Amino acid sequence: MSSSFPKHGGNIFQEAQRLGFHLDQILDASSSLVPFPPPRFLRRCLKASLNGGALRNYPDRTHQELRQVIANWHGIEPSMVLPGNGASELLTWVARDATETGMSTLPAPCFADYERALNCWSGSFRQERLPLSWSSSEPQSFPLAPHSEVIWITNPHNPTGQLWSRESLRLLLDRYSLVICDEAFLSLVPGGEKQSLIGLVKDHSNLVVIRSLTKLFAVAGLRLGYAVADSKRLEAWQKWRDPWPLNGLAIAAGTTLMTDVSALEEWIRKVQNWVTVEGSWLQERLHAMPGIFPHPSSVNFLLIHGRTSLLDFHQKMSSRGVLLRDCRSFVGLGESWLRIGLQNRAGNRRIVSEMKKLLI
Ligand SMILES: Cc1ncc(COP(=O)(O)O)c(C=O)c1O
Repeated sequence: MSSSFPKHGGNIFQEAQRLGFHLDQILDASSSLVPFPPPRFLRRCLKASLNGGALRNYPDRTHQELRQVIANWHGIEPSMVLPGNGASELLTWVARDATETGMSTLPAPCFADYERALNCWSGSFRQERLPLSWSSSEPQSFPLAPHSEVIWITNPHNPTGQLWSRESLRLLLDRYSLVICDEAFLSLVPGGEKQSLIGLVKDHSNLVVIRSLTKLFAVAGLRLGYAVADSKRLEAWQKWRDPWPLNGLAIAAGTTLMTDVSALEEWIRKVQNWVTVEGSWLQERLHAMPGIFPHPSSVNFLLIHGRTSLLDFHQKMSSRGVLLRDCRSFVGLGESWLRIGLQNRAGNRRIVSEMKKLLI
């Protein structure tokens, strides 16, 4: 693996500049955000916050209101919730705990930020290969249980889209001193909440669940996520972090998004319906293309595997304004793997039509 390969998708500004496109000519399927504009009530809230005190005043450092509405949503105590500057900030803090706890196991391939977070604290980790063949988008048994103190799980897994069953993950709680479960994409998965570990946190102080609002609401620019964990652990993180890790607009937005439960439920239904409909539409078309194999996925991205290298194909797609995720930075994947983020129907048609021109 070379460090020069992109570690994240969504490098839309750099890619537009490199390829000579305006931003609106680019279809970014290298990151995995919902394709809808953020809900109207969110835009209204941001406007109101601009006119209110959200810019002028220091934000509430206790995040009391935001913690409360997130806690209400999950039916847990507010002290078990810590909002963060995106899930990524919280990964940094959980990595500090992981480092103090011992050796971490990272499934390979997995989200690159775990390694970044562990490296902040010179944490030790080893990568364990996930079997790269699976036949279903239904919940599967988590296949790894190597010897280490800490295990990092992503549910659903990024980049494979596999959904791990809650029952198989529950077994890990007796085996590891610390179980970190990143559920950044779980609320996008139809029926996915049934596999969440959040309900187990109350009785397991060795469990940390990380969530993100980035993907669900397409608000990557706001930086909004939260951790659910034992309150003592979260108190320690609060002492380590910056005084104002979340800005006033993000706090206002998060509070609005999580307060109106029926609007939230309706949004989640819309997103999950899109994943179901567009996911199977795209899978069907990709299956009909020669030289590539699309893997089943529970969520809004899927991996394709080429019979040979897909590097040239990837570059040609980029030069046509369609960005796919180069998977060379993922341990265990290489030139013959690409990840595609689902779009709306028009976007998916564009992906399929450009792919056909190159593959058929
Ligand atoms: C699995 C996973 N977890 C966490 C994150 C980070 O989310 P956030 O934008 O909330 O920092 C990402 C972003 O790509 C991700 O793929």
